[in-house]
Amino acid sequence: MTGANGSGASHPARYAQITGWASCVPEKVLTNEALARAVDTTDEWIVSHTGIRERHVVAGERETTAVLATRAGRDALLKAGLPPSQLDLIIVATATPEYVFPSTASLVQDALGAASAGAFDLSAGCSGFIYALTMGAAAVRSGTAEHVLLIGAETLSRITDWTDRNTCVLFGDGAGAVVVSACDARCGVLATELGSDGSGGELLILPAGGSRQPASLETVSNGGHFIKMNGREVYRFATTVMPKAAQNVTRKAGWELEDVSLFIPHQANTRIIESAAKRLSLPMDKFFVNLDKYGNTSAASIPIALAEAVAADRLHEGDKVVLVGFGAGLTWAAAAVEWGAPPPPTTKTWFGRLLARLGFVFAGLRSWMIRSERHAYNWVMGPVGKDNWRGRLRKRIDAWRHNLRQ
Ligand code: UT7
Repeated sequence: MTGANGSGASHPARYAQITGWASCVPEKVLTNEALARAVDTTDEWIVSHTGIRERHVVAGERETTAVLATRAGRDALLKAGLPPSQLDLIIVATATPEYVFPSTASLVQDALGAASAGAFDLSAGCSGFIYALTMGAAAVRSGTAEHVLLIGAETLSRITDWTDRNTCVLFGDGAGAVVVSACDARCGVLATELGSDGSGGELLILPAGGSRQPASLETVSNGGHFIKMNGREVYRFATTVMPKAAQNVTRKAGWELEDVSLFIPHQANTRIIESAAKRLSLPMDKFFVNLDKYGNTSAASIPIALAEAVAADRLHEGDKVVLVGFGAGLTWAAAAVEWGAPPPPTTKTWFGRLLARLGFVFAGLRSWMIRSERHAYNWVMGPVGKDNWRGRLRKRIDAWRHNLRQ
């Protein structure tokens, strides 16, 4: 499938530039040595087979997917100098949403105070962030949206079987976010490539908790709510699709592989990235790798790596960047991005920055007030449909409020 790659005939001169970026990982670090004390593994095995040395994991009930996503989203907005009120759309790519519903994106929308934004979650495994980027950039290029916030966020530690050495050494928690905004100069997301092969669905799966196997005593005791993976098959799939997707998207953007300044691959396994580099006949220093610190954070891995690549001064105006990933579904995705000019600093002064941050505090207050008003109203007016004076009064007020909204 071709994404936002110049086919928008009605808006030929409109592009989708990445104007803000940020990442957020939990404070708690889990090292290979600590894992080796809990399951039958060693630091040597994990490093030699995956490249991972440590990962960050959430601690306690207060650190959740929505919390990490909101922090990354807030910092990306601050970087872009964009108030949340100007967002038109928020997409959260995740395999570990806060709930089945409501969407994590709606919780983020409320927490940020993005009152004009639509919000939804996107499920495409570890490819999810590039899928979200494709949808967000297409919305911007078509004129449907001016500014979108795209987030990849995961708390995989919550669905990890900590007794299964085949999977528990691989994953980590975190979130990354980008703001994509309309611009006239040719830059930003220039081409995308999305793919899926559902015949491999069972190779990487969370079997229970959906409508096929709803949660029950049996699903809990069978470990049906933990990640199940056929590592070797996923490895084989990844080493085939990663170079192919990178090659296709580069061609769609009208570039040669040699023109690409930096590849930002899904951070699952150094060996998979090395294999892709070899198949593309490119040196490893063209590939950004940070999985040694975070493990595989699924949909969050690419935006976290992107934010770190900018912080490490690996991306400059005019650079050609390819993002490429693969994951559950099975899915794969790639995006060709030309790095644009940095956004004009709209919050130059400390006072401006303070005001921008205060905006997020007010967003929390706003949300609290709306909830309180709803609770207070229901408490004072009593339950709907009661045939007493409160019930009748409530009916009248509801009708009056309804008319006001028309
Ligand atoms: O985002 C997408 C998500 N998934 C992935 O990207 C995963 C893709 N797959 C992989 O990265 C690799 O297949 C793994 C890292 C999961 C496994 O590496 P491998 O080189 O393919 O190992 P293997 O599955 O072939 O297992 C080799 C041996 C086995 O022992 P036997 O059967 O040869 O005696 C495993 O039981 O290594 C054993 N093993 C371990 N030993 C120590 C598996 N996990 C561990 C462990 N510590 N943690």
